[in-house]
Amino acid sequence: MRPPESTAWHPASWQAKPAQQQPRYDDPSALERVVAELSRLPPIVVSWEVEALRERLAAAQRGQAFLLQGGDCAETFADCESDSIAKKLKILLQMSLVLLHGLKKPIIRLGRMAGQYAKPRSADSETREGVTLPSFRGDLVNRPEFSAEARRADPQLLLRGYERAALTLNFVRALVDGGFADLHHPEYWDLGFVKHAPLKDAYQRIVQSIGDALDFFEGISRRPVHEATLVDFYASHEGLHLLYEQAQTRFIPRQNRWYNLSTHMPWIGMRTAKLDGAHVEFFRGISNPIGIKIGAAMDEAWLQGLIATLNPQNQPGRLTLIHRFGVKDIETALPRMIEAVRQSGQAVLWVCDPMHGNTETSTAGLKTRRFENILKEVDLSFRIHADLGSRLGGVHIELTGDDVTECTGGARGLTDADLQRAYRSTVDPRLNHEQALELAMLIAERSQSRRLLHL
Ligand code: PEP
Ligand code: CO
Repeated sequence: MRPPESTAWHPASWQAKPAQQQPRYDDPSALERVVAELSRLPPIVVSWEVEALRERLAAAQRGQAFLLQGGDCAETFADCESDSIAKKLKILLQMSLVLLHGLKKPIIRLGRMAGQYAKPRSADSETREGVTLPSFRGDLVNRPEFSAEARRADPQLLLRGYERAALTLNFVRALVDGGFADLHHPEYWDLGFVKHAPLKDAYQRIVQSIGDALDFFEGISRRPVHEATLVDFYASHEGLHLLYEQAQTRFIPRQNRWYNLSTHMPWIGMRTAKLDGAHVEFFRGISNPIGIKIGAAMDEAWLQGLIATLNPQNQPGRLTLIHRFGVKDIETALPRMIEAVRQSGQAVLWVCDPMHGNTETSTAGLKTRRFENILKEVDLSFRIHADLGSRLGGVHIELTGDDVTECTGGARGLTDADLQRAYRSTVDPRLNHEQALELAMLIAERSQSRRLLHL
């Protein structure tokens, strides 16, 4: 399929197209002032980091690395505090260590963090007891309480979101640079509240064995190897709020290209991927590696159109396709998509998001997901890709480092009744620390047995 007629791109060219999921602001001049200020403020990331990530994603496309993308469904301003950020970083590092051990390849760590503040909604408004108000669209836009004042889209929140993204990434960088990811500091690898014995024991064996391997290499090479292998961490968020993304988009003369410097890798959500829509227009002109969420509603021609429009030069590392079909649809939907990409002749990185297709409602009416379905979708993804001569190159997980009870199942066997205890998400249910680690261990274990069986 031919891409739509390309016309000149600039950071605001999306404004001529229909834009889904954008809030309505009641004071356009206040909004304009905020966007102008955001455009002047320094960027959150820099282009050489973005290029480094693209190169690593290109390696993952060739099967030489694996992507671990994870974090909250929506970050909140209230959770921008040291303990919560450190815990999230810690679980991602722990998962990456377990995956490194099982998959025997470098793990690219990509947080859904430092800017994951805007959410798409299925309806523009919400009605409670006869009162209708705008939907909550994430802390970047309005507040979750059900009052007219809280639900008013406030442009100042764009600035607050930018600041919190910068504070978060600043802290993450300091932790990582300061040795947070250093295996020689076992306290950073400690499991905290994870008490489930078999899980804890298996995890500790992995940490020990990697620690021993590091000691061995450092012994013979006489220099620390962890510095080269364990210190990178990148940020990603859904590129949803286009004025915010536009304001952080800069022309970098040295590279002679435009970059969205609000994050390393923005992704296009499932609800905003229309071929002739504003989001695709915006994304086609930025040079970052980008993700595209793919759900059951997308057909082959649509996907091929996106690939042609967003990566006309077939640049390695540019496109990551994040499929989120759910266990019920993956076996019919994924093979068609793999074939559509094969026909396009393009290199992409395939990543499984086993969260968003497996959402259901608990008996008490809470949004939840079953651990067994999440694991099953990852398993099916590995198998389907391998059967069709393709490759699953990563996973995309909603998780938190805290002890919440939002998803059921896992080693501790959380039930519907347990969900009430610590259900904190205002949007989608996340795996808690223990469940997230368990998922990584199961993925690693199964990959190891597949490798032994040469599958
Ligand atoms: C999300 O990642 O939180 C999300 C809304 O996903 P999707 O666009 O796949 O529904
Ligand atoms: Co979500």
